[in-house]
Amino acid sequence: MRHMLDVTDWSIADLEWLMDTADEIIAHPGDYAHAMDRKKLATLFYEPSTRTRLSFEAAMAELGGTVLGFSEASSSSASKGESVSDTVRVVACYADIIAMRHPKEGAPTVAARYSPVPIINAGDGGHNHPTQTLADLLTIRREKGRLDGLTLGMCGDLQFGRTVHSLMNATSRYPGVRFALISPQELCIPEYLRENMRKAGVSFTEVRRLEDVISTLDILYMTRVQRERFFNEADYVRLKDSYILDPEKLKLARRDLTILHPLPRVNEISHAVDDDPRACYFKQVLYGKYMREALILKLLEANV
Ligand code: NCD
Repeated sequence: MRHMLDVTDWSIADLEWLMDTADEIIAHPGDYAHAMDRKKLATLFYEPSTRTRLSFEAAMAELGGTVLGFSEASSSSASKGESVSDTVRVVACYADIIAMRHPKEGAPTVAARYSPVPIINAGDGGHNHPTQTLADLLTIRREKGRLDGLTLGMCGDLQFGRTVHSLMNATSRYPGVRFALISPQELCIPEYLRENMRKAGVSFTEVRRLEDVISTLDILYMTRVQRERFFNEADYVRLKDSYILDPEKLKLARRDLTILHPLPRVNEISHAVDDDPRACYFKQVLYGKYMREALILKLLEANV
């Protein structure tokens, strides 16, 4: 049985299939309206979320299926001390597929070991967020027409930003991709990712100032400083406004730049940027729903 725990478990061909299917769903939504009739998706969210959980719910609804689940650990049996492995074995009696978000890195992988139904990692701590990456990949492909040969600027909290980790691992498999990593020293990418990039022979630079690289970028991926993963509030306050993208900085950027953000945004993109044609972060939300539909279809092997 397949799960979606980490994008790198999926081949480029698999990812292309998901993107092609999402394009098909966008073009002909009616053809998919009953693909998941009588199927149930459980959303087990041990950590707060708005868009990811609602995106899964909307995706399943558009396919004709239904959703059950919880949106905080305190309203589940986890608050009574139940383990993740027990919870998934119970929930699998009610649902055909499970999307799980958990503050502990690796929790969805543990769940997959015990689950008789497919598990989707909807974000595990500061580690990975593969379905956000699916949204990012489709947005990039639809905006740029390709995923190879691009220069991606990853900006903000590169240490705790799980969306950054998954996106770098996914895109670095495409030929000619380069990264400009823009963060304060304290929030630079984890060493294991740097190692992955070196092993894969991917070229990357690490800089402190967005202005120094913005003119070279095809994609600018802005991220929120992940307050909930800091050990002390003073460090968060010192670092939270390290980067603010505004119209002034955008004057230095290419006219065909694509600006992405997994959202929620705090201060890192000024609202004045929203009307710029280069701002694609709300489209990205919509594409995320279609990619989750494609993923559910693939994992449940629906014949449409
Ligand atoms: C991201 C996450 O949860 O990691 N949000 C999301 O799922 N779209 C990014 C974030 O919380 O900053």
